[in-house]
Amino acid sequence: MTPSPKSPITKAIFPVAGLGTRFLPATKAQPKEMLPVVDKPLIQYAVEEAYAAGVREMIFVTGRHKRPIEDHFDMTFELEVALEQAGKQELLDVVRSVKPDDMECIYVRQAQALGLGHAVLCGQRLVGNEPFAVLLADDLMVGETPILKQMVEQFADWRASILAVQEVPAEHTRRYGIVAGTQVNDQLMDVNRIVEKPAPEVAPSRLGVAGRYILTPGVFHEIANQPRGVGGEIQLTDGIAGLLRREKVFAYRYDGKRYDCGSKEGFLQANVELALAHPQLGPGFREFLQGLSL
Ligand code: G1P
Repeated sequence: MTPSPKSPITKAIFPVAGLGTRFLPATKAQPKEMLPVVDKPLIQYAVEEAYAAGVREMIFVTGRHKRPIEDHFDMTFELEVALEQAGKQELLDVVRSVKPDDMECIYVRQAQALGLGHAVLCGQRLVGNEPFAVLLADDLMVGETPILKQMVEQFADWRASILAVQEVPAEHTRRYGIVAGTQVNDQLMDVNRIVEKPAPEVAPSRLGVAGRYILTPGVFHEIANQPRGVGGEIQLTDGIAGLLRREKVFAYRYDGKRYDCGSKEGFLQANVELALAHPQLGPGFREFLQGLSL
């Protein structure tokens, strides 16, 4: 495995053990992370984003019924032989590009769904004592510069935890970790408070955390020492709240767009917009949409 020489962040945790209840019945027998947006499963978008940011060790915190994720990033021997024999080089390249040679995939099981903080804690031994990224695959993030790469650039400047944030409607604060703090510049805030899923009346701001984090390893200790939080779960947000009492934590307003693909609406929006932007499918799909009487 070639280390990525330039990136200060080489490891990422992908918590993928969740049940995907917001997307039933589609997720009854398949992982929500394998739902395709246009032609790629959600998890592949997140892994590609991490890879583009210089991450080479992908740590998946999985659960029962998540085997298709492991299979997706494994070699598909029969398929590759068949494509090779048929001379279908382009498709072979597509299949092989899912896992570049210098990328390592590691799997650890989260036996019980005890929350996002607990999932991150499951990756502690594999991460060790270095800063790392966390990517939630059902948040599909699109930017001219991949969002995690933007965050790694911020990390290189500040050497502190960086949370991706966006403004959310007041009535949606209950869906997010909400941050408040002191503005450092247009895009960066020095966080002094973070609360998991507050009601709009008590939310400290309308800046909601999107599913991308760069965290220093001190967060593991903080998560491990938190009592159960919102929903009776061990919350990553509560661990970060502990961390910011000891270290600087920044909230970064990324350049780009987030689709909440854990919800049916967000998933449909992502499919339409990404299909329109697709180099081969885009033009025909645009024509199709224009022909609809809406
Ligand atoms: C999780 C986090 C929340 C964050 C959100 C982003 O919530 O707990 O702080 O804002 O992801 O998508 P979930 O969506 O898993 O309920």
